[in-house]
Amino acid sequence: MTEHQLKSLLEQMTLDEKIAQLLQLAGPFYKGSKDNGEITGPMAEMGITAEEIEKSGSVLGVSGAQDVMRIQEEYLKTNRLGIPLLFMADVVHGYKTIFPVPLAIGCSWDLDLAEKSAEIAAKEASVSGVHVTFAPMVDLVRDPRWGRVMETTGEDPYLNSEFARAFVRGFQGENLQEDTNRVAACVKHFAAYGAPEGGRDYNTVNMSERQLRESYLPAYKAALDEGCEMVMTSFNTVDGIPSSGNKWLMRHLLRGEWQFDGVVISDWGAVKELIPHGVAEDEREAAAKAILAGVDIEMMTACYVKNLKHLVETKEVNEAIIDEAVLRILQLKHKLGLFDNPYRGADVKLEQEVVMSDEHLNASRELAAKSVVLLKNENILPLKKEQKVALIGPFAQSGDILGPWSWMGSKEKTIQLADGLSDKTSTINIAKGSDIETVTDEQLEEAVNAAEDADVIVLALGEDSDMSGEAGCRADIRLPESQLVLVSKLKQLDKPIVAVLFNGRPLDLHGLIDQADAVLEAWYPGTAGGAAVADLLYGDVNPSGKLTMSFPYSVGQVPVYYNHYNTGRPKLDPDVKERYLSQYLDIPNEPLLPFGFGLSYTTFTYSDYKVSSETVTPETPLTLSVKITNTGDFTGDEIVQLYIRDLSGEVVRPVKELKAFEKVSLKPGESKEITFTITEEQLRYYHSDLQYTSDQGSFEAYIGPDSQHVTTFSFKLVK
Ligand code: GLC
Repeated sequence: MTEHQLKSLLEQMTLDEKIAQLLQLAGPFYKGSKDNGEITGPMAEMGITAEEIEKSGSVLGVSGAQDVMRIQEEYLKTNRLGIPLLFMADVVHGYKTIFPVPLAIGCSWDLDLAEKSAEIAAKEASVSGVHVTFAPMVDLVRDPRWGRVMETTGEDPYLNSEFARAFVRGFQGENLQEDTNRVAACVKHFAAYGAPEGGRDYNTVNMSERQLRESYLPAYKAALDEGCEMVMTSFNTVDGIPSSGNKWLMRHLLRGEWQFDGVVISDWGAVKELIPHGVAEDEREAAAKAILAGVDIEMMTACYVKNLKHLVETKEVNEAIIDEAVLRILQLKHKLGLFDNPYRGADVKLEQEVVMSDEHLNASRELAAKSVVLLKNENILPLKKEQKVALIGPFAQSGDILGPWSWMGSKEKTIQLADGLSDKTSTINIAKGSDIETVTDEQLEEAVNAAEDADVIVLALGEDSDMSGEAGCRADIRLPESQLVLVSKLKQLDKPIVAVLFNGRPLDLHGLIDQADAVLEAWYPGTAGGAAVADLLYGDVNPSGKLTMSFPYSVGQVPVYYNHYNTGRPKLDPDVKERYLSQYLDIPNEPLLPFGFGLSYTTFTYSDYKVSSETVTPETPLTLSVKITNTGDFTGDEIVQLYIRDLSGEVVRPVKELKAFEKVSLKPGESKEITFTITEEQLRYYHSDLQYTSDQGSFEAYIGPDSQHVTTFSFKLVK
C-alpha cells in the first residue's frame, strides 16, 4: 500500500471505526480466542461492546500461531474495511526460550549477544503470531528497592543507550515488511519510570528537565535513533504531569524536538489513571487530555471509545488529531506487511521447530554464563569434579529463575541448578534447607545432614520472582531472614561455602558475603540458567560479568550510583576522620560493590599506557592506549572501561561518566593493546540553559576494570 492508499483508506473510515483503532484490549474478548469473544469481567464493567471489539485496532497478550490466525480470520470477517488486527505482547527477554533478565544481560556488556537474544526472541514470537513487542525497557535506575530494576540494563545512560540500540536492532532487523522473523519494538516506559520516589512503583518522579535530559532520556532517544517503531508512556508524572497526559513530553519533546512519527501507546490503564493522579475529573477529560497530549492507543481502558466521538462532536477535540493517530497505526500495520498478509510470520508447523530449539537454548546458556557476576572468590572456585558437593537452598531445584517478565516461559522446562550440577558430577547431596521466606528446624537439620560429608557447600539462594518485577518493591533489600539463618547454620560446619544468588535487584549482601567463601550473582538467568551456572562453577566458562548497577552497602545509602556529583564537602578518603563532610556516621559512602565490578578466575594487568596528546580540540581527538595481559591460569574475558570527568562545568558534573568500553578475550599469558578515543563530542553536556555543548577546560580520563579501580590521565579541551 502506498501512503496515498493508506490515506484514502483513512478517508473511508467512519469516526467510530477510527476511534476503535485507538483501542487495545487483551485477547480473551476476541472471537476465535479460547473464550470466543465472551465479554466478561472488566470489559463488561467498562461497557465494551462486541462491535467495538470487532473494530478495535490491536490486541495484547495473545500468541500461538493457531490462535492468532483463528482470531485474525474471525476478526477480518466482520471488519468492514478489512483492516487487520495488530498483535502486541511483552516479549522482554525471550518468548519461550527465556534469556537472562535485562539487568543480567547488561552485566554481560556484550552488545552482540544482547542483539542476538532479541533476534531469537523476535523469531520465536513472530512465528507464534506476535507483531509488536513491548520492549526494550530502558528506564535508568538508581534504586534497588524498585521491583523493575531487573528489566533494565542499569544506572548508566551511555551503556543503557548502547543496549537499547542493540535490542532494537535484534527485534526489528533491517526491514519489518520483508523479514517476518522480526517484530516491531516499543521502547518503554517514556519517561523516567525508573526514578520513583522511595523506589516505590508508580510513585512520583520529580527531577529537573536538565537531570531528565542528562541521565534519563538518552536511552529512549537511542532506541528511537535506531528506528524503534513505538513508544509506551509511563505510569508516573514528569514534572507534575502524568506521562500519558503530558503535552510537553509527547508533543514538544518526542514529536517536536525528536521528530518521532511512530505510534505512542499508553501503559496499561494509564489514560484512565489521569483521574486518580488528579489531572482529570472523569474519563471524558482523561480522553481529551491523553489524545491532545499525543497518546495514540489506549491500552486496556475505554476512555477513548466511550468519549472521543462526543468530544469531536462538541469540537473539544479536532477530528484531525484522531486522523493523525489512526494514520500512524495504519502505517505501522503497513510496515509490518499486514495488509498484504494479515497472518504475517505465523506458522503452526514452523513454530514447532523454531520455538525452544537447541540453537536458541544454547544461545540463552551462553548469554547467561556471560551475565553472571563473580562477586567473591576465596580460591575455592572453580570446583573440581571429584569434590563431593552439598547443594542446599530454596533455589537448588527451582524453575523460578526466569524472572517476573518471562510471560510465555515455562518454569517446568527450565534447567534448574541441580540439573546443571548433575551434568558435571554425580557426587551431589541436595536439600532445600529453607523456603524463600520461611525456615523450619527440620529443613535446617536436613541441610546439615546433606552437608555432613561434603567437601563443599553450594548454596542456592535468592528472591522469589514475585519479590521482583512490576509492583515487586522491597524496603528491606537483604536476603530473607530465613535464608540468612540457613547460611549461618551451615557456616558452623566450617566447610567451604559457595553462594549462588537468583534475584532481580542489587541486594544488601550483609549476612551472606561475609559468611560465604565465594558468591556468584546469577540474577534470573533464564531457561538454561542452571546449566550456565554449573558451567561457571566448574570453570567450563570463566565468569566475566560486571555490575551495571551498584550494590549498596545498605538500603540506607539508596540511591547510590557511581556517576554522582562531588558536592562541596566530599569525603574523598574513607579513613579520614572529619565531621563536617558529606557522610554517614554509621556506614560508608561507597557502595558495597561498585558499578563495573566483577571478578574472574584469572587475573589481568593493565600496563604500557600511552596518551597521544594532553589536549582535545573539536578537530583533533586524543587516544589513550593500554596493554591488558592475562597473568593467570584461565582464558578469560576482561571488560576494560573508559570514564571521563569534567573538573569544572557551568553546572556540576558527575565524578565519573562511562564513555567507552571494550571486552577482550585473552589466553593465559596473552596480551592485547586497547585504544580508546576521546572526542570533543563526548565532553558535551546540558548547560543550565539546556544547550548541549562542551566547554574548554580541564578533564580527567580514567581507565580500569571497574568504576573505582582506575588509572587517571589529565587532559584539556581547547576550542
Ligand atoms: C504493564 C507494564 C508494561 C507492559 C504492559 C502490558 O503494566 O507496565 O511494561 O508492557 O503492562 O503488559
